Amino acid sequence: MRILGHRGASHDAPENTLAAFQLALDQGADGVELDARLCGSGEVVVFHDARLERLTGASGRVADTPWDALARLEVRAGPPGAPAGRIPLLAEVLEALPRSAFINVELKSEDLAGTAVAGAAGALLAAGRHEDHLVVSSFEPRCLVRLALGYPRIPRGLLLDPDRPQWLQRTVLLPLLARDAVHPEAAHIREADVRRWHVGGRQVAVWTVDDPDVARRLRAWGVDACITNRPGALRAALGR
Ligand code: G3P
Ligand code: MG
Repeated sequence: MRILGHRGASHDAPENTLAAFQLALDQGADGVELDARLCGSGEVVVFHDARLERLTGASGRVADTPWDALARLEVRAGPPGAPAGRIPLLAEVLEALPRSAFINVELKSEDLAGTAVAGAAGALLAAGRHEDHLVVSSFEPRCLVRLALGYPRIPRGLLLDPDRPQWLQRTVLLPLLARDAVHPEAAHIREADVRRWHVGGRQVAVWTVDDPDVARRLRAWGVDACITNRPGALRAALGR
């Protein structure tokens, strides 16, 4: 079972920064999960929130802020004592991570314009070095449709949102949009789900798994990947 650092090793470093991604690998992760969205000048940036306040103290929407302004901000929110990081471009992260690292790019979008991140990220991923170590996921069906149309060879999976109707996601969206993978939340998955999704040819990556006992149970069920804020703790508990 793969261990992927959720926004990097985000328990120990500011989330979605180059330092958090490197630390995840140093702690023994097989790769990382990261959040990708469009900024105001059209670049794909790696940043979880739609707005800047929580992570940087600046105000405004990422979608309205050009890259040259984002590049000057510090990502301050993080564990006490950890040095501040900065917001990376997706292109920089792809360049920085070794070819052996598995990458789960989660596409974030709050509106139709934002779903263009699928094409922009798809272009970077298709030209990058991680094509056989890659999955793109999203809660947003339109992002997955756009990725499938523009870059059909890139593996894609649906993130299951615990706050939206399960039947709609599992019986309608999943068969249509999640050709390669399904990414459920840890509290909403049973062993029979894993078996069914595997029969359909999909890999299963579960988030966010910080408890080693839960990770052991998921591994026993045959889950393909755990997405965790604490890759070091999971690696220590699970071994190689
Ligand atoms: O990709 C798994 C997880 O990251 C989804 O939720 O809000 O942490 O991006 P969120
Ligand atoms: Mg995410």
